Amino acid sequence: MKIAIAGTGYVGLVTGVCLADKGGHNIICVDVNEEKINMLKSGKSPIYEKDLDELILKTNRQGNIEYTSNYECAYSDADVVFIAVGTPERSDGSANLDYIKGVAKQIAVSAEKDILVIVKSTVPIGTNEYIENYIKSQLKNNIKVEVASNPEFLAQGTAVRDTFEASRIVIGVESKWAENIMLDIYKNFENPKVITNRNSAEMIKYACNDFLALKVSYMNDIANLCEIVGANIEDVAEGMSYDDRIGKNFLKAGIGYGGSCFPKDTKALHWLSNSNGYELKTIKAAIEVNEIQKLKLVKKSAQIVDSFDGIKVSILGLTYKPDTDDLREAPSIVNIKYLLERNAKIHVFDPVGMENAKKIFGDQIYYEDSIESAIDDSEMCFIMTEWEQIKEFDINKYKKLMKKPLVFDGRNCYKIEDMKKVGVEYYSIGRV
Ligand code: UDX
Repeated sequence: MKIAIAGTGYVGLVTGVCLADKGGHNIICVDVNEEKINMLKSGKSPIYEKDLDELILKTNRQGNIEYTSNYECAYSDADVVFIAVGTPERSDGSANLDYIKGVAKQIAVSAEKDILVIVKSTVPIGTNEYIENYIKSQLKNNIKVEVASNPEFLAQGTAVRDTFEASRIVIGVESKWAENIMLDIYKNFENPKVITNRNSAEMIKYACNDFLALKVSYMNDIANLCEIVGANIEDVAEGMSYDDRIGKNFLKAGIGYGGSCFPKDTKALHWLSNSNGYELKTIKAAIEVNEIQKLKLVKKSAQIVDSFDGIKVSILGLTYKPDTDDLREAPSIVNIKYLLERNAKIHVFDPVGMENAKKIFGDQIYYEDSIESAIDDSEMCFIMTEWEQIKEFDINKYKKLMKKPLVFDGRNCYKIEDMKKVGVEYYSIGRV
């Protein structure tokens, strides 16, 4: 089959490269961004993602994957087009479908033979049906078109592994024709397949992301209570983790969840629910807890110092989680804004997120090339991401290098006793 993929972001690119690696089909990845396409043609990944560079080189050599910015060529004779473009959030929390509609229109005017359009992007329930009707209304040629839902569950940093070892492949279809094509696409993937209708497939994606966001917010809520009543969230989480009904993942309390999915998808489902006359109280609570959690430590620090005016503050870790260069909705952003408004001199360090931070903060903050230079002579330090490099840092250096050894750790990177021993005033999450 000839499979076109619209969008070379995390979802589209990883899907394309993994499908190519499994063989059996010809893949063509399409993106409007020429610079990205040229990078990919030369075997380089435009995003930082483990194992992706090698896989791009390998599949380029294999020869069953192409990259292009010419959508007409790509879609004209494609059997299938995956739509994997972004669905950013609008100011009211709803999902913006402009990019998806843009691609749908391109498919409608370019496709010359029967085509199955597969939506991988996370979209509100009912969107697949809407897109199908939209494409049909714009069709240039008299061909058969159907839209199927195939939501993506990959997490950044483990995207390639998550695709090859997917716990399940969700297939939302309305006909046997579409189902058979979907099964053919994934014929070389052994993973369990869940076949359902389109609306349920769309809901599975939101229900998963929002449940995980709720789980994290629940743990953050419990962590805050732990601090008040003198319990330890890490022991509590461990005690919970042995219960199969709860599971051991996503029990880590911290400075709040971020990224391109949880914040957006919680708001989108809440919005969708409201617009259907139903209030999703659980998800509303998850959103609220997260907003408060993100500023928890900086607000605690404000009670300790008289003023942030002119003082050197270090921030270690900027990305929303380790092993990614992505800062979207990262807790570091709101914290840096809070400190900038109060005139702090902010010195930051992140192993891979600095370039993206520069795009947001420009010359308003100082970018350091090591943890040491970020904390040197500083009066307080915030840890926002649990990078290995930060967890393995010699904690004696906080005492040695900082003007005042005051550390606020949003990711519980160190043991409280160890920090006490080296003479650091240390605040973390859910531990006393
Ligand atoms: C998530 C989903 O996991 C993935 O299936 C979906 O397709 C996209 O959204 P991602 O955003 O890449 O993936 O990262 P994830 O590892 O899920 O973490 C999301 C956020 O939750 C991060 O900010 C992380 O720090 C936070 N988190 C996660 C916690 O605070 N505690 C945890 O125990 C787990």
